[in-house]
Parts: sequence; C-alpha cells; structure tokens
Amino acid sequence: MKNIVLIGFMGSGKTTIGKIVAKENKMQFIDTDDYIEKMSGKSVKYIFETYGEEYFREIEKKAILEIHKIMPVVISTGGGIVLQEINMNLLKINGVVFFIYAPIEKIVSNISTDSKIRPLLNKKDWITEAKDLMKKRSFLYYKYADFIIDSTNKDAMSCAKEIVRIYNNLKGN
Ligand code: S3P
Repeated sequence: MKNIVLIGFMGSGKTTIGKIVAKENKMQFIDTDDYIEKMSGKSVKYIFETYGEEYFREIEKKAILEIHKIMPVVISTGGGIVLQEINMNLLKINGVVFFIYAPIEKIVSNISTDSKIRPLLNKKDWITEAKDLMKKRSFLYYKYADFIIDSTNKDAMSCAKEIVRIYNNLKGN
C-alpha cells in the first residue's frame, strides 16, 4: 500500500493532521523537518541561519531520497518541498499526495500560535512575506496534488478523517 504524503504551505496543519492520520491507520509518521534535524544533527533554524536556504534545500533533497523508500508511512513535508521537482517525483513513486489547502487567515493564525520557528518568516513584516511566498508557490501545490483537502472550515480531525476515507477507498480498489 502506498504512502500518504501531505504537502502545503507553512502553518497549514500538515504535521497535526498527519499525526492523526498515522494513528487512525496505524501507520508510521515521518515529518521531513524532524528527519532532517536527526539526519544532520542540527536544527532547521540553525541550518538556515548558518548555511542559508540553498544548503537546506540540498539536505531536504537528501532526506527525500531516503524517506520516499520507506513504506507504508504518513509523510508530512516542509512547505518548500515542492520547490524541487525531484522531491515530488520521488515522493510520488510510492505515495499519494494530499495538498492541505488553508486560507492565509488560518495560516497566519496557526503560525502565530504554534511553537515552530520558521526562518523564512523571521521578519518584522512576516505576514506580507507569507502572502508573497504563498502567491509564488500556490500553483506548485495544485500541480503535485492527487487530492486537495480544503481545511478552510474544518479542524485537523475532520481533515484527517477525509484523508483516511479517500486513502482507504483507494486501498479497496
Ligand atoms: C519551509 C517550511 C518549513 C521548513 C522550513 C522551510 C518552507 O516547514 O521546512 O522552515 O520553505 O516553506 P513547515 O511547512 O512544516 O513549516
């Protein structure tokens, strides 16, 4: 059975939703940022601040080269995973891709309240930055999505249930 791959913008709830999906379906859960931190022994924040984004993307690609082979698992990806086509081509070999769509208001609210540090939004005017990044990247999430989960009026549990239902239907076919 295939992997469940979650993509979407920072703060769209991929990790929270992914953990619920993994629990419901008794599958292992992998968060690509956690994997990168274990693999490199450094935090994502430290990698960005010390070596820059380009270097982070290289490590991210190396992580995907390993992660995509593990199965069946639920994989929650970093928001920039779609920036390199190779990442998505690899993840799609063994995985079904779910794009978690969230409107900017929800993203801003999630980012303001969760504890995760996002080096790309480490600016005073981070909301404008988030909007700009979202505009630039949106088409990529749609491009790679096999299924779109619209989280606008749904909590993480409802989104997770929708994913489980779709995935289990695929299994039955
Ligand atoms: C990034 C998203 C982050 C993390 C890194 C870069 C991005 O993950 O990988 O800070 O480029 O969108 P989340 O999407 O889990 O916040």
